[in-house]
Amino acid sequence: MAERIAEEKINQIRQSVDIVEIISEYVQLKKQGRNYFGLCPFHGENSPSFSVSSDKQIYHCFGCGAGGNVFSFLMELEGISFLEAAIKLAEKANIDLQVNFSVNGKGKSVSPELQSMLDAHELLNKFYHHLLVNTKDGQHALEYLLKRGFSRESIDKFQIGYSLNSWDFVYKFLTKRDFSPELMEKAGLIIKRERDGTYFDRFRDRIMFPIFDRNGNTIAFSGRSLGAEEPKYLNSPETVIFNKSKILYNFHLAKPSIRKLQQAVLFEGFADVIAADRSGVENGIATMGTSLTDEHITLIRQNTQSITICFDSDKAGIEAAFRAGNMLIDAGCTIKVAMMSDGLDPDDYIKKNGHEKFRNEVIGASLTWMAFKFLYFRRGKNLQIEGDRLAYIETILKEISKLTKAVEKDHYLRQLASEFSISLDALQQQLKQIFFSEKRNSNGQNQPINKPSVMVKQVNKLKPAHYTAERRLIAHMLRNRDTAYKVQDLLQGNTFNLDEHQAIITYLIGFYEDHMNPDSSAFLTYIQDEKLRRIVADIEMMSVNDELSNQELTDYIKQVLNYQKLLKIKEKEVEQKEAERQSDFKKAAAIGIEIIQLRKSL
Ligand code: GTP
Ligand code: MN
Repeated sequence: MAERIAEEKINQIRQSVDIVEIISEYVQLKKQGRNYFGLCPFHGENSPSFSVSSDKQIYHCFGCGAGGNVFSFLMELEGISFLEAAIKLAEKANIDLQVNFSVNGKGKSVSPELQSMLDAHELLNKFYHHLLVNTKDGQHALEYLLKRGFSRESIDKFQIGYSLNSWDFVYKFLTKRDFSPELMEKAGLIIKRERDGTYFDRFRDRIMFPIFDRNGNTIAFSGRSLGAEEPKYLNSPETVIFNKSKILYNFHLAKPSIRKLQQAVLFEGFADVIAADRSGVENGIATMGTSLTDEHITLIRQNTQSITICFDSDKAGIEAAFRAGNMLIDAGCTIKVAMMSDGLDPDDYIKKNGHEKFRNEVIGASLTWMAFKFLYFRRGKNLQIEGDRLAYIETILKEISKLTKAVEKDHYLRQLASEFSISLDALQQQLKQIFFSEKRNSNGQNQPINKPSVMVKQVNKLKPAHYTAERRLIAHMLRNRDTAYKVQDLLQGNTFNLDEHQAIITYLIGFYEDHMNPDSSAFLTYIQDEKLRRIVADIEMMSVNDELSNQELTDYIKQVLNYQKLLKIKEKEVEQKEAERQSDFKKAAAIGIEIIQLRKSL
């Protein structure tokens, strides 16, 4: 695995792929001026501070400081090595790397253990599916599914299968094919008996739902019991290839539709996703029966900001929808909530009322988040009773006060006014009171925290002159080889004041020794150090004039050198004081002269 890829191949890859195209697979980018902007995939945010430059083939986030080129983007986002990123990109660009990864022969650079786990899952997935649709052993399971309303097409599309009612079928099946039992146990497919160290199958006599990662690899299974057997759903345990808090059921199939419609539908269960798919709702996803995590939200946010929550319409489902909705709202999403009558779940609703009604009267008639909250806070209250009614109105007013759009505020205030026959004036009055008391309580801490671009601007204002001067110089040095050498000369052996800045220009001069022209992306690969890379990406994104006049140049250099002189002066002043304290007035006077000379040279 310690393969290296020739420098020229790396260059070829870099020149053949477009960073905007690659990043667009993960982040929605909008063009604004010369650059593209979007929501940073490396941290949660509501307003876009992530920028991509097509000219320079680099990216940078003003919010969290992430930055680099197309290689580092994939490395950071997917947690892979440089080599793996290079292989991925070469594949996209149809470049033959001619490196020989003999272990798996698939050109994929995962470790042999991981590959073996994936292979076993894929093999079992095919086999379970075969058992369900083609064999007598699976017939009762197939009948169960068909009776529940699963279609043959769905069974194929979701590759649903059946695991035999046997304690060791899978164990034998895998070991016969040279899969190591230890590894298969780690993959969660078989379980070791404590008492004698023998193995048995995890899934027995269950309907098997394969779980795919975002590339379509089978990485786990969820097995549903056919009868009353507990648990109803048995999942693979967490393994190196399966992390529940990151995986969304059906994400790999739903992704194109989610992106096209700019809308995802979040369900509670697999059965719902599959039934909805049959109704033509192909952008459905579900968690693995757990609550939504930040990682799930990041994954969704990379594809759309608009989510319809379609949970069971029973008490637990409504509570869960409220929680999930709030998390998504906090992440800057737009939420709708689809509700069904009689506390049904989507799957049952479809069975009872048909696909068309589900599409039009459930998904199509989803409530806005605010309208859902009107219903949510009403539950368990008797609005005929004055106390309940006033408490409800107060709660809703609090929610309305959080809205940012005046039109929305007005809309819901009017709705409230007409429903309870209260004057609009009175409601507006009370809304104002709520607004001010919330403001007092929060002491101004209630401001949105995700305003990085403003934050960064303020921080930069506080930076000393030499800091800005060094950054501007580096910006020009990155754009022009001659400028780099000129600055080097003008510094006359002095260094930049910030160690990181000095390190960057040292690298840059080194880079220009064998590159005749600036190349932002190539330079980022050359640097390697992550911290420096981020700073360079940040500086690359600064807007500076194309031309650097001599006047500007000497001003910057002066600021860099002056800072060192100022430090020197401070040092001398301390020495002078010390001399005076020791009554060595001769020495103090000599130092005084030095200080005057230093001041003059500023
Ligand atoms: P059906 O009963 O087959 O229609 O499934 P459902 O999707 O309606 O299941 P339900 O609404 O009861 O649960 C929703 C999701 O929670 C399921 O898709 C599972 O992911 C998860 N879940 C339900 N029961 C269990 C269980 O017993 N164990 C585990 N681990 N997860 C479960
Ligand atoms: Mn169900």
